[in-house]
Amino acid sequence: MKKRFQDKVVIVTGAGSGIGERTAERFAEEGAKVTIAELDEKAGKRVQENINKTGANSLFIKTDVAIYESVNQMVEKTISSLGSPDILINNAGINVFSEPLKMPDSEWKRAFSVDLDGVWYGCKAVLPHMLDKSKGSIVNVSSVHGFQIIPNCFPYPIAKHGVIGLTRALAVDYAAKGIKINCISPGYTETPILDRFFNTKPNPAEARKEAEYRQPIRRMGTTTEIANAILFMSSDECNFMIGANIIVDGGITLKIHENDDTGAD
Ligand SMILES: NC(=O)c1ccc[n+]([C@@H]2O[C@H](COP(=O)([O-])OP(=O)(O)OC[C@H]3O[C@@H](n4cnc5c(N)ncnc54)[C@H](O)[C@@H]3O)[C@@H](O)[C@H]2O)c1
Repeated sequence: MKKRFQDKVVIVTGAGSGIGERTAERFAEEGAKVTIAELDEKAGKRVQENINKTGANSLFIKTDVAIYESVNQMVEKTISSLGSPDILINNAGINVFSEPLKMPDSEWKRAFSVDLDGVWYGCKAVLPHMLDKSKGSIVNVSSVHGFQIIPNCFPYPIAKHGVIGLTRALAVDYAAKGIKINCISPGYTETPILDRFFNTKPNPAEARKEAEYRQPIRRMGTTTEIANAILFMSSDECNFMIGANIIVDGGITLKIHENDDTGAD
């Protein structure tokens, strides 16, 4: 039987870890040929090896999404090795969390170069090829920080708000030309980025427990749960979805106050 993404060419940025890694694996399981566009060489090669061991076809291409030339070269290599891209997942991202007035300028630049420039560079590099075919699908990874603010997480939420705005602007410009561009906003998801976040707290285990309790679903999301939503948004199952932002967060952003109950279920 033909698989859901049989022979589709898919690029996943930041696919060396966490959500990107699981998304690359899920696409490969569904028959896609996948480019692992990743800065960390060791991580990217590990994911390529694991996927190719299953008989699927993936290719690690060392990429820094913060540099347009690097992204453009990755797209050209994808075309020559796997074919013209059908789907792009702009997933690479970094947490840059500061108190605004204590933040060095370099941190502002670091956050925007990866979390927002990186998403734009991905779109800019693949769009001409998708337009040639009058077909393509792009999913940008924002965050619940893309529309809600946690104090002293500056300037990450500004970049993630920008990812939602970029998605909406590009979606309108290219919808009539066969390109579908949407955005996903994950909540707390079990990945190394989350471990690094909790490790900044005085008591990481306690901070994690409290955070889990704050989720209406009482747990973090899994990378598979986020990846599955990304696959759906990339597919032809939702071709009327244009410039949408889908929140996959266990219900956390539905709450007004974080500490609004006593712990009793
Ligand atoms: N984990 C969460 O709770 C969570 C929640 C909301 C949004 N997100 C977003 O999801 C995305 C993936 O996060 P994750 O939790 O899987 O993180 P992660 O740290 O596990 O993985 C991110 C990957 O991106 C790569 N990367 C970083 N900078 C890069 C660059 N300049 N070029 C290419 N690759 C680069 C890293 O090497 C890493 O492999 C990010 O955009 C993040 O902001 C994560």
